[in-house]
Formats: sequence, C-alpha cells, structure tokens
Amino acid sequence: MKFYIETFGCQMNEHDSEKMSHLLRINGFTPTKEVKDADLVIVNTCSIREKAEQKFYSLLGRFKKLKDKKGIILGVTGCIAQQEKEALKERLPFIDFALGPSGIHTVIDAVTSSRDGRFFYNFSENGCVAPLFLRPEPARGSIKAYVTIMKGCNNFCSYCIVPYVRGREASRESGDILEEIENLARKGIKEVILLGQNVNSYNKGRDDLSFPALLEEINEIHGIERIRFVTSHPKDLSDELIGCFGMLDKLCEQIHLPFQSGSDRILELMNRGYTVSEYMDKIDRLRSACSDIAITADCIVGFPGEDEQAFKETVELVKNVELDGIFSFAYSKRKNTAAANLDGEVPKDVALKRLQHLQGIQKAITLKKNQAAEGRVFDVLVEGRSKNSKDELTGRTRHNRIVNFRGDTDMIGKIVNVKVIRGYANSLKGEIA
Ligand code: 5AD
Ligand code: SF4
Repeated sequence: MKFYIETFGCQMNEHDSEKMSHLLRINGFTPTKEVKDADLVIVNTCSIREKAEQKFYSLLGRFKKLKDKKGIILGVTGCIAQQEKEALKERLPFIDFALGPSGIHTVIDAVTSSRDGRFFYNFSENGCVAPLFLRPEPARGSIKAYVTIMKGCNNFCSYCIVPYVRGREASRESGDILEEIENLARKGIKEVILLGQNVNSYNKGRDDLSFPALLEEINEIHGIERIRFVTSHPKDLSDELIGCFGMLDKLCEQIHLPFQSGSDRILELMNRGYTVSEYMDKIDRLRSACSDIAITADCIVGFPGEDEQAFKETVELVKNVELDGIFSFAYSKRKNTAAANLDGEVPKDVALKRLQHLQGIQKAITLKKNQAAEGRVFDVLVEGRSKNSKDELTGRTRHNRIVNFRGDTDMIGKIVNVKVIRGYANSLKGEIA
C-alpha cells in the first residue's frame, strides 16, 4: 500500500509527519511523492491562522475527488483535527480517520480500522505523551534531523490556539533524548534541531537536566557538529541559556525569539509576560554573550486594540532592534482563545497595510545584513543541490543563512568554507574559499 502525506504548518508538524511516515514504513507501507499513486492519503493540518485552515479545506475538496475516483483511505491529522474533533467528520463525512497531534502514534490502528470501514479517531487531550517517544529513522543521506524534546505550551498567549490543540507542556527524559541523538550521529546526522513549542521551558520543575545542561551534553556527542533549537519564549530565556551561546562550540549562533508586538499595552493584552524593554534587555544580553548572534522573531500586526500609536511602537522596535529576519503575520481570530472576545478589532485592510509597511522595513534591514556578509568567509554545512540552479549547491551558515554556490556533489553533508560574494534579501551567493 502506498502512502502520501501532505503537511501544513510548523516544524513540529513536519516532524510529526516524519513520525507517522516512519510508523507506516516499518509496517510495510511505501511512501510515494505523487498523491495520484497513493492508496492512503494523510493531511497533517495547521490551525494557527485562518489562511492555513482555508488551504486545508480546499485541498480536501481535491482529495475527495481522488477518493471518489479510486477509493483511497483519507485521514486528517494534526491541529485542525484536534480543534474540530467529531465535528470534522460531520463537516467532511468522507474522511476515514482523524488524529490530533497527541494521537499520531495510533496511525496504524487508524488505517486498519479504516480498511474495515470503521471511522477511527484519537483526540487524546493533554496526558498523552506517546508521540514524544517516537524516533523516526532519518531518510538515507539526511544531514540534519529534528528531535522533539518537549511538547505543548502553558503560556496561553491570548491569540494562540496551540495550548488548545497541543495541550500542556511535557518534557521528554534527557537520557532518552541523548540516546536518540547518539543514534542519529551514528547514522551520519550532523545537525540536530531540538523542537518544542517552548523549548526553554524544558524540564521546568522536574528532577532532570535543565535545558542548558541538556545542550552541554549534546555538545559532547561525537559526530554532531551543529545544534539549533526552536522556539524560545523571551520570558523564559535565562542568563544560563544565553551563556551557552559562544561557549558551546556546536551551538549555532542563532536564535528565534518572537516579540509579537512593540507596544507594552498590546503585549499585556496578548498575555506575553514581558515588556518591550525587557525584550530589548534579552537582546542586549544575547548580543553581549555572542556579538555575532543572528536573531529572528515573529510579530503579529492588527491585534485587537492595536491603534496607530501601538503600531508605530512596533515599527520603532523593528527599526531599533535590527533583527536578521522577522516573520510577520496579520492577526487571525481563533475561536475559543481569549483574544477572540476582545474589542477593538482592526479592519482587515488596515492590518494588511500595516503588515506590508512593516515587511518593507524589515526587508531592507535583512538585505543590509546580508550585504554586510559580502567578502566574509563562513562555515557552510552543505545540504544538497540548489533548487534554483542545477550547477549549484545549497547550504546554511551557522547563523542559519542560506548560501548557494558552485561545488561538487561530494561536498554534500560536509562543512566547507564559502566566501560570500553577494547578499540578497533571502539568501547569499558564495564561492568556495
Ligand atoms: N494570528 C496571527 N498570527 C498568529 N501567530 C500565532 N497565533 C496567531 C494568530 N491567531 C503567529 C505568532 C507565532 C507564530 C508561530 O504565528 O507570531 O509566533
Ligand atoms: Fe500550526 Fe501551531 Fe499546530 Fe504548529 S502547533 S501546526 S503552528 S497550530
């Protein structure tokens, strides 16, 4: 039986798809890259914003046609499944199974049940940590791998659906994580990306390694050359963790640290637990611990109550802090979240205009930073052939910047010295130094 998985959303979801794919493969299913060849189609969904949901529903319309034509098994997993629960089956009666993020380990049962014509669902709420322990085999030739270290979120930012669909925080035992990474290193993995909705809350209140201590242990694993982690919350970014940058040689000089808004009033309404000056203080500390650190962030515009003044403050923050990149989004109302009940909704066209304005400012900052890299030589971990040009390879610097350059395919998987010859808005062009 051939299977195809379509994935929406964040790295957590991508990794969940890898976990399901692993379970399917060890149970005799074969992956296919062509949905038309598949007998089993799974859509792993995201509900962080309305747009992701709309994309899912329109894709499902297409997959229904496929089902009508050749009788595939069609399953929906991930955050929309968890959010809608049984209502999803009412809205999409043709689906065969539905699994929330904490139920993906039951994918084989789901398929077996579907084959027998019984609808299967698993909407395990908070308690279920089973998916944390799944260790997908890296695909042959992989250079980097995700490793889940914790799941869930206790922060309840007022706009965010994550605590409702991915449940409360739960950490995985350090011994289990280290063993998985040792195993990955033996299989040729050079870079690990530690995943968690809130990685710096790892093991909070538990009698096990702290997050910085875990990083120190991973730093000792032979064969691993690079360590990254996502995502961090500014309020939990400890000095101890900041101190790891520039101290642990394998920890890449890069952090993703969302600020979400540049207005204290909006941050309070968002329930973020810090002020703008506290955020800026963390940035200063990061930069003094590691002058060269690359920092990226997320930001929401058009949050309820965001007036021109509040938006201006966000613009000021973006201009002052000069981050390497910002992912900015127009606020999207999510049902059951606290912000859904707030007054002061910002009209869509206003939010989109603000978004464009902000993105323009950041684009210029990112471009300036990328151009400043011209003439410098970087360690680049070569990931494969470039998508845009057959003759070029692509890789990443420790700062997580993408570099395209001419080179031999036997460089793939190795760290090579590349001199940057041109900085663009989203990538760098280089040559072997
Ligand atoms: N509307 C818009 N953006 C959102 N994000 C999370 N929830 C929403 C929402 N309701 C953004 C935040 C978060 C990123 C993953 O998505 O910026 O950091
Ligand atoms: Fe989307 Fe959040 Fe779910 Fe990731 S955890 S897939 S970003 S809703």
